[in-house]
Amino acid sequence: MLYRDFGRTGWQVSEVSFGAWPIGNAWGSVSDHDALAALHASIDHGVNFIDTADVYGDGRSEQLVARVLAERSERVYVATKAGRRLNPHNAAGYNRENLTAFVERSLRKLEVDALDLLQLHCPPYECYYMPEVFGILDDLVRAGKLLFYGVSVEKVEEGLKALEFPNLQSVQIIFNIFRQRPAELFFEQAKRRKVGILARVPLASGLLSGRMTAATSFPPDDHRNFNAHGEAFDVGETFSGVDFHEGLEAVEQLRPLVPSGATPAQFALRWILMFDAVSCAIPGAKNAGQAAQNAMASDLAPLPVDTMARIRALYDARIRDRVHQRW
Ligand SMILES: NC(=O)c1ccc[n+]([C@@H]2O[C@H](COP(=O)([O-])OP(=O)(O)OC[C@H]3O[C@@H](n4cnc5c(N)ncnc54)[C@H](OP(=O)(O)O)[C@@H]3O)[C@@H](O)[C@H]2O)c1
Repeated sequence: MLYRDFGRTGWQVSEVSFGAWPIGNAWGSVSDHDALAALHASIDHGVNFIDTADVYGDGRSEQLVARVLAERSERVYVATKAGRRLNPHNAAGYNRENLTAFVERSLRKLEVDALDLLQLHCPPYECYYMPEVFGILDDLVRAGKLLFYGVSVEKVEEGLKALEFPNLQSVQIIFNIFRQRPAELFFEQAKRRKVGILARVPLASGLLSGRMTAATSFPPDDHRNFNAHGEAFDVGETFSGVDFHEGLEAVEQLRPLVPSGATPAQFALRWILMFDAVSCAIPGAKNAGQAAQNAMASDLAPLPVDTMARIRALYDARIRDRVHQRW
């Protein structure tokens, strides 16, 4: 496992880290046993950064992370998120009282005295124009409740605006073979300001793993079923906003580019690691096998220039019109 600088925190984080949404909820059923094994396998393979949120399984994901870390001696950084417990989810809710309560709840679930990194969880657009929201986060740092804070964003422009807040350490954004726009202006600006980037949904919700076919179906409590057309939340969070069947066709065209000895999932992760602005990719995993396989993507050789060009050409031909200007 290779490690990269994370913003101005002084942390060195595993370039393949762990996304803990699938072990929380909304991905069909994942047993505690499999979830715990996935976390252990990741750490065994050098992962030292976990991304979770207070709403993943209403705290289940945070609690599973706490259970595993109680059994491990390694320093593992845990990023959680706040904001999505608000109902209605609106900018006015991002106030001192609510944010403080969300932080206190995550401190209890994660069984720590201070959160390593708190991310605002895709807040409404108006929040990026409310410096008082970031002032509250500064106060929570001063109070010792957080070490650092960042944001998780839906759109590139939200990420660019967030970079203007001087104490922001990270931006989490969807970035994968089917979502390439962040690599344009945003990466350059984040690097210039030394802000860490978490590449989320790196496997396009599993589509890029190459395991799915037109006959694949998902259980009712899996967002790949209930949010396939954006019925419950931003459609970009499910298959990166790419139509499932169009995505499958593109995945078949990618298959010949996968280096021998690598899986399509590892190839998709290695593509992300080609961008040095990225601090880490945070693939979700539901079991130890997936977690180990994902972590080992860090061992792959850099992708050849020709392969990178062919991936770009495929994106331009098949995906770009569908997603590029939407996020
Ligand atoms: N708004 C936000 O802030 C937000 C939104 C989304 C995600 N995130 C974060 O980003 C993380 C990553 O995104 P994601 O979990 O949505 O999507 P993802 O990482 O693109 O896909 C994860 C899914 O892919 C499949 N998979 C994983 N490894 C595999 C492998 N080696 N081989 C085959 N299949 C594999 C698994 O599902 P199956 O086995 O069922 O196919 C897994 O649940 C999340 O866990 C979460 O921490 C944040």
